[in-house]
Amino acid sequence: MINTGIAAKFAEKETPFYYYDLNVLNKTLEAAHAASHKRGFHVHYALKANFNDELLKAIQEIGFGADCVSGNEVKKAIECGFDSKKVTFAGVGKSDKEINYALDQNIFAFNVESIQELEVINELASKKGVKANVALRINPNVDAHTHHYITTGLDENKFGVPNADLEKCAAVLKKCESIELVGLHFHVGSQITDMTVFKSLCVKVNEWKNWFEERGTQIRVLNVGGGLGIDYKNPDGNTIPDFEAYFDIFDRFLERTAQQEVHFELGRALVAQCGSLVSRVLYVKNGVKKNFLVLDAGMTELMRPALYQAYHKIENISATDSAESINYDVVGPICESSDCFGKEVPLPVSKRGDLIAIRSAGAYGEVMASRYNLREEIRFVYSNQL
Ligand code: LLP
Repeated sequence: MINTGIAAKFAEKETPFYYYDLNVLNKTLEAAHAASHKRGFHVHYALKANFNDELLKAIQEIGFGADCVSGNEVKKAIECGFDSKKVTFAGVGKSDKEINYALDQNIFAFNVESIQELEVINELASKKGVKANVALRINPNVDAHTHHYITTGLDENKFGVPNADLEKCAAVLKKCESIELVGLHFHVGSQITDMTVFKSLCVKVNEWKNWFEERGTQIRVLNVGGGLGIDYKNPDGNTIPDFEAYFDIFDRFLERTAQQEVHFELGRALVAQCGSLVSRVLYVKNGVKKNFLVLDAGMTELMRPALYQAYHKIENISATDSAESINYDVVGPICESSDCFGKEVPLPVSKRGDLIAIRSAGAYGEVMASRYNLREEIRFVYSNQL
């Protein structure tokens, strides 16, 4: 929560920067931990959402594992203290170098996305004389009802082994002597707020688990991916996602024995609400048809609005008691028309130097920053440094 007291402490700081509220983070982690732990569920944090050191430290300390999508993420997770036995490595394009590195770290499992990848991992593991643990990523063909850029579980998406290849895949697996199939992996997409999507996913998971078991392959781990969405409209009032409702769906609808483990890969829901991008108004431009607030942060610091037309709540945290409100297009300094955080945003009358907070930016914010236009390296401030 950013109140006027916190805004005053930002006054001397160079902008733009990411502000991480570690109290919000810890409260979120505790809620997720309580709701998953009591059901015996395992949570792996998806590093791709944010690999800021301080956040990773808190997430590791609560006992979650790590879901990684590059060799560097695997390395980062291990360096930050995650137990390699709780690290998974996913992604459609793992290089030989990355696979070899992960094999050396003896990670929990590779989430494998194609028959060819299976064969490569088998070959590399056999050269090292080790066994690679593998979960097979199956494309469940469930519509996540979210932005098409972040839907991953449909037949038209590049992710996962296509259903038509699974018969062949099961046969290849039997021949791969350096591979141990530990489970099945699914992921339907991100920013999912419609809980019925997860219920549909459970139905597919049950079907595919039975399919493998009927063919004599035992499945120990059911990894159902991540995707739980957050309330971007309400970063303060409803900061903690409803983890109870989320885990309850899987508890009720996933068919499993006491020996079968259920794994999750949550990213956004754990870290989005603890982060804000804090920026200053450089210029106020009253155009012919529009009023513009030109900020010192742009799409280079937070790309989501430009890339997905994503909504982030925008607040003027310097001008709290001004009653008059007008509509601004809030834009950045980058030479692209898409460099816009919001159009016709109602804000108190604003002036040069005012601090603007762009909320719910803890996930897929800092990690997606770029140096386009030779922008400065992104800065950050933690709540315990104020
Ligand atoms: N597991 C897999 C296999 C994934 O592909 C993803 C996200 C996750 C887990 C974590 O999903 P989450 O719980 O965070 O929804 N840059 C986009 C989001 C891309 C998500 C990619 N995959 C955004 O800013 O909305």
